[in-house]
Amino acid sequence: MKSSDKALIYTARSIAIVAILFVVCGFIIISLFFWNDRPTDRVTSVQIELVQPGAALEPVQKRSTPEDPWKAPHESTIPAGKYGDMIKYGKDLVVNTSKYFGPNGTVAQISNGMNCQNCHLEAGTKPFANNFSVFISSYPKKSNRSGKIEPPSERIAECFERSLNGKVPDESGKEIQAMLAYMTWVGTGLNKGDLVFGNSTEKLKYLDRAADPKLGLILYNNKCQSCHGRDGEGIIAEDKLSYVYPPLWGKDSYNDGAGQYRLSNFAGFVKNNMPLGATYDNPQLSDEEAWDLAAFVNSQPRPHRTQKKDYPDLTKKPIDAPYGPYTDKYPEQQHKFGPYGSIVFATK
Ligand code: HEC
Ligand code: HEC
Repeated sequence: MKSSDKALIYTARSIAIVAILFVVCGFIIISLFFWNDRPTDRVTSVQIELVQPGAALEPVQKRSTPEDPWKAPHESTIPAGKYGDMIKYGKDLVVNTSKYFGPNGTVAQISNGMNCQNCHLEAGTKPFANNFSVFISSYPKKSNRSGKIEPPSERIAECFERSLNGKVPDESGKEIQAMLAYMTWVGTGLNKGDLVFGNSTEKLKYLDRAADPKLGLILYNNKCQSCHGRDGEGIIAEDKLSYVYPPLWGKDSYNDGAGQYRLSNFAGFVKNNMPLGATYDNPQLSDEEAWDLAAFVNSQPRPHRTQKKDYPDLTKKPIDAPYGPYTDKYPEQQHKFGPYGSIVFATK
């Protein structure tokens, strides 16, 4: 081989080696670049799921879906006879509670004059308005609030004591039995464990700021005051037996131990039901507006109930329960108004 050929091969080899080294180094540099990028990527994408507990259940409904929603049975299916009469009486008690149990009630004078239907709309059959669909089928049930396994009558009693800021009618009396008969009929065909789309109220996404009573006041004056009154006192009917528009705060409203006093319950309720006529399919408030309204209304004066015995297991206390103690170090103020994100993160 000529020495010039040798030199040529030598040069070609060197070029090849340099080229390979170049490719390998390039590869290493590029992959290092990506490698460095990934972990940071991962860290920034760890975001707290700002979704309320229970919200995740919605897509896996066993029985009813948004496309095939639950409907309460038709009135015509109420049987004739004594039991049917009980169901009808139970419905009337839910719709016109005040007539029977209000300050001028015909059965007893033991409540603030609100009707169950004020919050359990359409006699407890409307979606996302605290309907009674799965109530009977899911009881007896362990209540996180009382820490006890409760029969359904006990749950009704709690709404008398808290939402109606009153006393409990005789539990073995005709009235509670009639309400239970009505609620059983509403839940016809549903069994323990069945999930109904539109049960309870919508679990709104948490805001990344605290809900703001000042913004809520402006909204209240524009959108709610005309019916619920300047001082949240509602408008009483001419016969003085019940409200045309129920009170939202003040001495005749629900007390601070009621479910409605928790911002998430209030916001979820008003989002899909208020101003009157709003529905899940046609809401008239944004989530943000609903939270701010909840913050405003639930900052106004209302009757107090001692809650020392509520939530004996603190790990089961809802994040927005507005009274301590808690398992975390966040103040009552933040539990009440949010932002809830850091609390969710701390208690996970
Ligand atoms: C101020 C609003 C309000 C009024 C008035 C009210 N409730 Fe309730 N009720 C609620 C809320 C909110 C819940 C569920 C959320 C919670 O308690 O955490 C609830 C839950 C219930 C449940 C349990 C439903 C289930 O599926 O688990 C029953 C039963 C019930 N109420 C019955 C009644 C009866 C009977 C009356 C009238 C005597 C009444 N409520 C009046 C707000 C109200
Ligand atoms: C057109 C009149 C009207 C307007 C406007 C209106 N509501 Fe109501 N609201 C009602 C009626 C009526 C009920 C009771 C429904 C029933 O008994 O069927 C009710 C019930 C409620 C309840 C449950 C019962 C209670 O007293 O706690 C809340 C909470 C509520 N409204 C909040 C609001 C908020 C917040 C606004 C403004 C965004 C608003 N409403 C606007 C008529 C109205």
